[in-house]
Amino acid sequence: MIVELKNIVKRYKNLVALDHLNLSIREGEIYGLLGPNGSGKTTAINCMLSLLRYDSGEVKIFDQTMTPSNYDVKKRIGLVMQNIGVYDELTVQENIDYFCGLYISDKKLRRQYVDEAIQFVELDEFRKFIPKKLSGGLLRRLNLACGIAHKPDLIVLDEPTVAVDPQSRNKILDGIKQLAAEGKTIIYTTHYMEEVEYLCDRLTILDRGKEIITGTTEEIKQMSMTGEVINVEVVDLPLATQQKLHDLSGLINFNYETGSLNLQFEKGHNHLMNLLALFEKDDIQVLNLTIKQPTLNDVFLEITGKELRDNV
Ligand SMILES: Nc1ncnc2c1ncn2[C@@H]1O[C@H](COP(=O)(O)OP(=O)(O)O)[C@@H](O)[C@H]1O
Ligand SMILES: [Mg+2]
Repeated sequence: MIVELKNIVKRYKNLVALDHLNLSIREGEIYGLLGPNGSGKTTAINCMLSLLRYDSGEVKIFDQTMTPSNYDVKKRIGLVMQNIGVYDELTVQENIDYFCGLYISDKKLRRQYVDEAIQFVELDEFRKFIPKKLSGGLLRRLNLACGIAHKPDLIVLDEPTVAVDPQSRNKILDGIKQLAAEGKTIIYTTHYMEEVEYLCDRLTILDRGKEIITGTTEEIKQMSMTGEVINVEVVDLPLATQQKLHDLSGLINFNYETGSLNLQFEKGHNHLMNLLALFEKDDIQVLNLTIKQPTLNDVFLEITGKELRDNV
C-alpha cells in the first residue's frame, strides 16, 4: 500500500470530523474520496499529510509512519489544495517556479520541470500573467501546476474542479488520467459522482466522517438494493394496462404522467421482458424506452437517506 490510514479519529471540540476512518490506497491507482460538503474529505487529507493533528489512529505513506517532520515522505507528495494558494504578485511562471523550488534546487532541472508543468496545464500563453488576470478555470490549472511541478509520486487533489468552466474541468480530469498513466498514485476528493465514475479505479464514500462504502464504482452500484429504472414514452396508456403494470412482479415504484411512464424495479429479475410482453398484449405503442442503472447517488441515498449534493 502507498497510503494507509488506520482508525483515524479527528474531533473539532464536540464534532467528530473523522470517525475511525480506514483507507488503503495502492500504488498507481486513482483513488476517490466522494462525499457531500462537510463529510470530512479535507480533514481526511489534512490528517493524512500531517497538516492537522488527529486524536488517534495511524497514517503510513510509502510504508513509513507519516509525521509532520518526515521530509523524505513529504518531498514525494504533491498537494493541490481546495483553496487556491498562489502568490498574487508573482506571474504564472514565477509561481510554479517558486513551488517547484521548494523541492528542486538544481536550476536547470527546475527550469525544465516548470516548463513541463506549464505545458501540462496548457498555460503557455499566460506565462507572464499574474493570477488576478486569469479566469477561474485557468487559476485552478495554475494551482494544479504548482502542486505537481516537482514530479511527486503521490498526488493529492482536493476538489480541484469546483467552480471551473467545462473546458478547464476536462483538461484537469484528463491531465490527472495522464499522471496516473505515468505511474503516479492519485487521491482525488470531490462531491461530484460523475467525476469519480470517470476517473477513479476505487473509491470510498464518506458521510459525517465515516466510511460508508469502499470499492470500484461497479462494485458499489452492485450493492444497491434497487435495480434498474425503466422509462417508457407511450402514445397512450389505458387505465386497465396501468393496473396490470402495478401488478408486475418486483415493481417498487410506479409513476405515469401523460405519455411518460417511470418504473423502478427490484434488483435481479428480467423485468424488461415482462414489460414488453405486456405492452405487446395490450397493443401499447412505445415511442421510446430507456433503462437507467442505479448511480452512486442512489446507493448513497439508500444508505444515508440523503443526496450527495444538497444543492446542484
Ligand atoms: N477548523 C475547524 N473547526 C471546527 N470544525 C471544522 C473545522 N474544519 C472543518 N470542520 C468541520 O468538520 C466537518 C468536516 O469538514 P471538511 O473536512 O472540511 O469536509 P469536506 O471537505 O468534506 O467538505 C464539517 O462539519 C466542518 O464544519
Ligand atoms: Mg473540503
